Amino acid sequence: MKIAVIGGAGYIGSHTVRELLDRGHEVCVFDNLSSGLEQNLFPEAGFVKGDILHPDEIEKFLKDFKPEGLVHLAAFKAAGESMLNPEKYSVNNITGSINILNAATAAGVKYFVFSSSAATYGSPQYQPVDENHPTNPENYYGYTKLAIEGFLKWYDQLRGIKFAALRYFNAAGYDVKGRINGLEKNPANLIPVVMEALLGKRKELLVFGNDYDTPDGTGVRDYIHVNDLAIGHGMAFDYLQKNNKSLIVNLGVQQGSSVLDVIHMAEKVSGRKCPYRIVERRPGDPATLVANPSKAHEVLGWKAQYSDLETLLATTWRAYLANEK
Ligand code: UD1
Repeated sequence: MKIAVIGGAGYIGSHTVRELLDRGHEVCVFDNLSSGLEQNLFPEAGFVKGDILHPDEIEKFLKDFKPEGLVHLAAFKAAGESMLNPEKYSVNNITGSINILNAATAAGVKYFVFSSSAATYGSPQYQPVDENHPTNPENYYGYTKLAIEGFLKWYDQLRGIKFAALRYFNAAGYDVKGRINGLEKNPANLIPVVMEALLGKRKELLVFGNDYDTPDGTGVRDYIHVNDLAIGHGMAFDYLQKNNKSLIVNLGVQQGSSVLDVIHMAEKVSGRKCPYRIVERRPGDPATLVANPSKAHEVLGWKAQYSDLETLLATTWRAYLANEK
């Protein structure tokens, strides 16, 4: 299938492009390189530099390439920032997505795979979180993802486009075959911060609270390897093509790891010490957030292969070391 990947030079985008190419799809990336990196592009995939906030650019791209499928991962994703600067998230995440949707329906795109988030659920009312859990986002970022899912449902009904909204839990790790090493700029998520502490690029890791109701008191998350996520995108296209029916599905592993579990495993795979200090809780952080991925197993036939903590941290450490050379 011909597939356009919007945001394909980013962290999850580049791994998704690699997976789609490996599955034999013809891929073209559309990215403005604001957070995506040129080094994340593959010569086998086309590349058009453009901006989703310029409707003429995305329209031209889709009219020229004429894809059957599209993956949309071009979004800002810092939950904290979205609470301080909601306008930025409205424009990029919401207006940008509407521009893509309008251009996609005009160009005859049939299948739309959307990068959604567990942030659509808000504070979990029960664990593990399945797709029937109420959606009550507690940050504006999560709200933008839920709003876009809403637009997708309407465009399915009114324009017949079929979508898969993939609700990612905590994406982590780097390509298990070492083909992608472009690091995210100014990372704020736990695992990249741990890497920087191991390398002495920051003095210490701040652990946001150790008095949660979890086994060791630190926050527990469901870390999913980015290669497993990428495979999920490939399977979502197979599903849409076969069933011609839209889908909302969690991509997580149902395996909770605490901040201290992450630190200890990072120390093990790197052979280095991770300096850290316990500080106050970060506002808005739930104690535990773990996925129920049964629907992905049943409906997509998807199962995580690389999301054990050791592979997650070893592949990330390898990517960070590759950038030290
Ligand atoms: C966050 C976002 C989520 C987004 C995801 C991907 C929130 C509430 N959630 O998930 O919407 O989809 O990132 O970008 O913002 N931690 C530390 N020290 C640090 C960094 C993190 O102790 O320096 C802890 C956190 O308190 C948490 C865990 O590590 O318990 C994971 O944090 P993080 O990697 O930021 O991801 P989330 O907050 O789960």
